[in-house]
Amino acid sequence: MRVILPMPGNEAMAQSIAQKLNVECGAIEWRRFPDEEAYVRIASDVRGAHVDVVCTLAHPDPQFLSLVFLAETARDLGASGVSLIAPYLAYMRQDIRFSEGEAISSLHFARLLSRYFDSVTTIDPHLHRIGSLDEIFSIPTRVVSASALIADWIGSRIERPLLIGPDQESEQWISAIAAHAKAPHVVAQKTRLGDRRVEIQLPDISPWRGHLPVLIDDIISSGGTMLAAADQLVDAGLGKPCCVVVHALFSNGVFEALQQASSQVVSTDTVAHASNAIGVAEILAR
Ligand code: R5P
Repeated sequence: MRVILPMPGNEAMAQSIAQKLNVECGAIEWRRFPDEEAYVRIASDVRGAHVDVVCTLAHPDPQFLSLVFLAETARDLGASGVSLIAPYLAYMRQDIRFSEGEAISSLHFARLLSRYFDSVTTIDPHLHRIGSLDEIFSIPTRVVSASALIADWIGSRIERPLLIGPDQESEQWISAIAAHAKAPHVVAQKTRLGDRRVEIQLPDISPWRGHLPVLIDDIISSGGTMLAAADQLVDAGLGKPCCVVVHALFSNGVFEALQQASSQVVSTDTVAHASNAIGVAEILAR
């Protein structure tokens, strides 16, 4: 028996996955006490069941304790196992010590999750200097790629696309999407100057005049990367790009700024956002 349990805010994704798997979508009760401590109650029978907790980790700090309470409660109540389905997996970008004394957050976060769950499934985690999640998790991990879905979306809506990755790290996603969409792709160089400021240097895109630029990244957070790349494309005469992202984190006001700077902003629904246009429930369920 399998029960899918949504953390608060993940009900729609949990329902879709449960429907596709034809299994029960359970319910929890969750609230904050006046002093901000969390109240968690599992309102479904999980005795003997394998529980899949659905929690996209777009706000990992306020989410984490409740997530642990939920996993531990499921075990207390007799669940045979507890897995995590995290469409977006947080803390993957701080994967080395850039300055002396820094926490390698990706490693510590992976170790924490490994303590409370039997396995983790996620979509396109930010694997850069780490080759595989297995290097940092001690439990089985499953990585699902949204590349084919993104390629299909582009293929069915954009004629003559030129796919552009804003930095070297994006090469892995861009090349997979380009292969699937049978579209040309280029990758820019990025220099990070701060949390919100980057410099982007485009490669020679003169051979691609007449193509529609499609900027693709795994994450938009401060929007610095996409905004700088979009500006460069306009300056280079290719026009406003269509911006496609897997994980729509979008800090305040960034979505609106990017809408101005682009022809369209589109994301997968790993993180619920107004830009969601590509659903991932099917590939997660599979
Ligand atoms: C990092 O290299 C990622 O692939 C993204 O490019 C980055 O996280 C985007 O962050 P921001 O929107 O803050 O520029």
